[in-house]
Amino acid sequence: MKKNLILILSAIVFAGIQSINIEEKTLKEAFKDHYLIGVAVNRSQILQRNEAEVKLITSQFNSLTAENDMKWANIHPKIDSFNFEYADKLMELAQANDMFVVGHTLVWHSQLARGVFTNEDGSTIDSAELTRRMKDHIHTIVGRYKGKVKGWDVVNEALAEDGTLRKSKFFEIGGESYIEKAFQFAHEADPDAELYYNDYNMTNAEKRDGAIRIVKNLQSKGIKIDGVGMQGHWGLDYPTLEEIETAIEMYAALGIKVMVTELDVSVLPNPYRMRTADVSARFENTPEMNPYPEGLPDSVQTQLADRYADIFKLFNKHADKISRVTFWGLHDGLSWKNNFPIRGRTDYTLLFDRNLAPKKAYHAVIETVKD
Ligand code: G3I
Repeated sequence: MKKNLILILSAIVFAGIQSINIEEKTLKEAFKDHYLIGVAVNRSQILQRNEAEVKLITSQFNSLTAENDMKWANIHPKIDSFNFEYADKLMELAQANDMFVVGHTLVWHSQLARGVFTNEDGSTIDSAELTRRMKDHIHTIVGRYKGKVKGWDVVNEALAEDGTLRKSKFFEIGGESYIEKAFQFAHEADPDAELYYNDYNMTNAEKRDGAIRIVKNLQSKGIKIDGVGMQGHWGLDYPTLEEIETAIEMYAALGIKVMVTELDVSVLPNPYRMRTADVSARFENTPEMNPYPEGLPDSVQTQLADRYADIFKLFNKHADKISRVTFWGLHDGLSWKNNFPIRGRTDYTLLFDRNLAPKKAYHAVIETVKD
């Protein structure tokens, strides 16, 4: 009996070691001659509460982005008070591990503090007051991390899907010049920091052309912009590799860096892309919309690995244009896609599974740079 038990245990241990090929390079080692490999970190990771997660983060990645803790609502919760606790902790983690920190994000229409656009009497502020508040926000935050945060998502998601400017409160009150002002204030506060425009669906032609207009407008006015961030919230079959490649080439042709800033690949049905007429039905958490609640079939693991391999082969082909690829979360269990666009689903978007083990997709990505 005892002999059988020992045999079984040794088989399990051997299988475990097999899944982590110890000779295999880490992501940051594998891509060190191509581009930075980053990860979005949550508050628990910033505070280093989970040793295994922090170990995986610092061993695999060389760039950090706070998933939420440097957004306006969290870092500047009241008009006259800032909360730098988490951003300071992020800097500590990054500096101890020689990691490139991205400040996400200075001006975005979402996750704003209450009252950003209102006077004390509840009336809406005017353009001059908006400019003052943006300048205070950006100068204070960028100034505090001068020389520490190496790149800023200065403006996030300023475009509508048709490539025109989103009718956000920033736009309605400040006009389109709010974008120029944001970049100008960031440059004043840290002349050496890289400044980016960041958005999703940046491979869609209309939005891509809208982003190119934003960049060209800034450049025409001598306002510094160093790169564009394509967020990269993609699926198994969208966007096409051609759309991704065209976008990379067109952005790079502007003379700026191209980054993929929030990469994840969903394996679940995307209600936004379904052709059903009934809008409400598309957004219910039905078994059809949540097909893998108990685990991902090997066949889909392989599909995901193949998709990630195709994407990274394309990135590697354009490594001269791409400066960073950041994954939007450490492992599948933390992915925002488990709750968007439908809450409570089980998605498998990243390279590490819910037990922090590397998936087939991880090995497939590393394989794309195996010499
Ligand atoms: O921290 C509170 C917690 O105290 C509270 O109990 C809980 C109740 O729901 O909410 C928690 O805050 C949540 C926060 O994530 C931290 O987990 C917010 O509700 C939730 O809305 C927020 O979602 C974030 C989302 O941005 C907000 O729009 C996601 O984590 C984050 O991944 C996502 O990231 C954005 C990028 O910043 C910009 N690009 C799109 C991307 C996806 O939306």
